[in-house]
Amino acid sequence: MVNEEWDKMTAPEYMQFTRKWIGGCHRALKDNGSIYISCTYHNLAEVMIVLKQLDFKINNVIVWQKINAMPNMTKRVFTHSTEFVVWAVKGKKWIFNYEELKKINPEKQKDGSVKQMRDVWSLPLVQGKERLRGNDGRALHPTQKPEEMLKRIIIASSNKGDTVLDPFLGSGTTAFVAKKLGRNWIGIERSKKYVDIATKRMGSKF
Ligand SMILES: C[S@@+](CC[C@H](N)C(=O)[O-])C[C@H]1O[C@@H](n2cnc3c(N)ncnc32)[C@H](O)[C@@H]1O
Repeated sequence: MVNEEWDKMTAPEYMQFTRKWIGGCHRALKDNGSIYISCTYHNLAEVMIVLKQLDFKINNVIVWQKINAMPNMTKRVFTHSTEFVVWAVKGKKWIFNYEELKKINPEKQKDGSVKQMRDVWSLPLVQGKERLRGNDGRALHPTQKPEEMLKRIIIASSNKGDTVLDPFLGSGTTAFVAKKLGRNWIGIERSKKYVDIATKRMGSKF
């Protein structure tokens, strides 16, 4: 949850919205396609319920361990340092590029050889050169996702020439990484400000 207009809904409104957009994705997805939904603890339950109601098969709930998570100011709960990515599929013939994932896995076996990719991804919140900033130095989007996260997702479940759709494009991370990996892409974003940022990003060099 962030303090933006699109993130202010009552619980019933959010449930209805979740059903609507995941239902739309179900219709658009190919039989061998995958859906990856980025969640926090706020909405993981709703997303999982809707996926099950739509007969999606949940393959993994990937845990993003944010190694540079913000400290908790309230001092009344454990410091939140995780987000989740739910991977679900429509049919039985989903794509999983197991060998390619082993090659890009930074974790290695004791002897230095490649290792299966696990469902816990330890990645920093976007910072440094990767973080899109305005002239005033402020971040251009409040929830810009790490490129490494999208790289793993896109490599895992698509092949070159396939099409990746992100219905909540934001600063354009999915499209940017999809293009870099030779996939076609479609982005949907309701805010003109973010469409402009993503468009500019797509025109920049990798
Ligand atoms: C969590 S952010 C996505 C961030 C993105 N992954 C990135 O790396 O920049 C969600 C985005 O969805 C957009 N959004 C929210 N509701 C929407 C809707 N109903 N249709 C299209 N876009 C929407 C918001 O403006 C916001 O930019």
